[in-house]
Formats: sequence, C-alpha cells, structure tokens
Amino acid sequence: MEPQQGQGKPHLPPPSLWPIGFAIGVVCILVGLVVSWPAAAVGAGLTVLFGFLWVRDVTAASRRRDLATEPAAAEGAPPIPAGEGEAASAAETSDRFPRSTFLEGATLGLGAVIGGIVTVPILGFAIAPVFQHTHHDEADLGPITNFKEGEFVVSTFLVDPSEGEITRRTAYIRNNGFILNKPSFTVLSNRCVHLGCPTQPNGPLFENRKIEQKTAAGDVTLIPALPAGGFGCPCHGGQYDQEGNRTAGPPVRALDRYEFYIRNGRLALGKTYSVAEVIGAGASARIKKYRLAGPGQHVDGPEQWFYPLQPPS
Ligand code: FES
Repeated sequence: MEPQQGQGKPHLPPPSLWPIGFAIGVVCILVGLVVSWPAAAVGAGLTVLFGFLWVRDVTAASRRRDLATEPAAAEGAPPIPAGEGEAASAAETSDRFPRSTFLEGATLGLGAVIGGIVTVPILGFAIAPVFQHTHHDEADLGPITNFKEGEFVVSTFLVDPSEGEITRRTAYIRNNGFILNKPSFTVLSNRCVHLGCPTQPNGPLFENRKIEQKTAAGDVTLIPALPAGGFGCPCHGGQYDQEGNRTAGPPVRALDRYEFYIRNGRLALGKTYSVAEVIGAGASARIKKYRLAGPGQHVDGPEQWFYPLQPPS
C-alpha cells in the first residue's frame, strides 16, 4: 500500500514557549538588581524553572530518536556485509547526531555563554560588597571623646572626599552614654523629609566650643548645640523633636538617621536609613529601620503603596 501524503515524514516537535519564559526570567533578574531583591529572586526562580523545562524539552527529542534506533539493533538485524560497514556506521552517526540536534545544542550553548557574559559581572558587582569588609564608605568624625554625653553636636563632614564639597553633609549627633556596655549615639540627618531643605536646631549653637579637625572624611566641624525646641525647617515650617519625630508641619515621617560604628575609639557614620516614628528616647529608643526613602515619601502604613519605586541610593 502506498503511504498516504504526510506519512513517513519525521514528526516535528511543536514550538516551545520555554525559551520565552527563560528570557522573561533573565529580564526580571536584571530589572530586580536595579529595583528590588525580591524581583531579582523571582526572576532567578523563573530562569531556573524555564531553563530546566527548555533543556528537558530539547534533550527529550534526542532521547526519542535514540529509543527509535535502539530496537532495530536489538532485534538482531542481519549482519552488514564487509565494505558496507563504514557507510552504515556513518549513516548511523548522522542519525544519532542530526543537524537539528547540533543546532539546538549550539543555540543553547551560545545562549548560556551570552547569558553568563551579561549576568556574571552584574551579579559580581551586586554581591561582592557583601564579602568585602571595607570601611571606605564610612565617614570618620574623630574621637568619641569629642561628643559630650547628653549634648547634641552639629557635625559637618564629607561623605566622599574624592568628590569634594558637593558631598558635604550635616548630622545632629548626641552621645547617649552606654547601653549594655556599648556606646549609644543618636545620629539624625538634617535633611527635612518633606522636600529636602536643611533643618536647623531650635536653640543656640556654642561656636566658642567649635572643633575643627581633618579626618578621612575631609574637614570635619563639630559645634555643640542646645536644640531645646528640637529642629525646624525654614522652608515650610516642618518641626521635629529631639528624637527626630515630626511634631508639626508637612513632613510625613521622622528625620532620617545614619548608621554609626565605633572604630578604635572613633565615631564613624555609615549609610542613612529612614524611620517612620521613634518610640522612646536616647539609648532606649525603639527604632524600626526602613530603606532610605525620598522626601515626602511614607515608609509605613497604607500610604507607602501610593509612592512610585525609588531608585536605589
Ligand atoms: S522642606 Fe521642610 S517643611 Fe517643606
């Protein structure tokens, strides 16, 4: 009987959607590295899942071909006459490794190489700082003995001396004494969290006790102050108490704070973070730390969802 039209042709596998899922996963990783770690984690999960399904699909096709050729050999096909052995062997080799399998493998390999070239450096830059214990991004404000216990000091310093005065910042620092044998400091950023104007202490500055020193954070100045009325913003009247909590005006949260460290008896400031509200005061204050938010941005409550994603600081 004549084979009907279409019979005898190799059955081509249907087009697979796994590569598209794989590509979406890679895009999620790259976007997540910029926007947020959870998005990068979801991207990594999608990439692994769809990558696995894609590889399984591709290898299943060659496994099917292998299974199709094996029974013939197992059923004891007649011996191949001498001289025809090499030709048969070549044909078998070309059956076992057809061009489509080669192209699939080459595409996968090339995709893996390109993916590695793109993602490995990005992941390296993102993850390496976690393993590098350097203090380069800390601002050295000098010996902690310059900060009298219970007194606020208006401190100015350079976040990045190599970039110059444009990186000069101001912090209100109070030595809270010790808690559990560890030094405690309140370190408030002077940036108003309404629209970013510089706030000022609501009380006198003691310029006659000003300390000027050179440290790794450039020219550092320390001026003791008595902000009995907290801190105020001249732009729109925002007011904060001595813990940085908003007491009046348009700001939507407490003043941002600096992380601090004690290095060989010296006070060093690290990154800034945001705070919704401080409960308590001084060394016993309870502070929930949030990723640094932009001016006017809520960091807690339902309002936080109405703000667009902030770029990483
Ligand atoms: S910028 Fe400070 S109250 Fe508006």
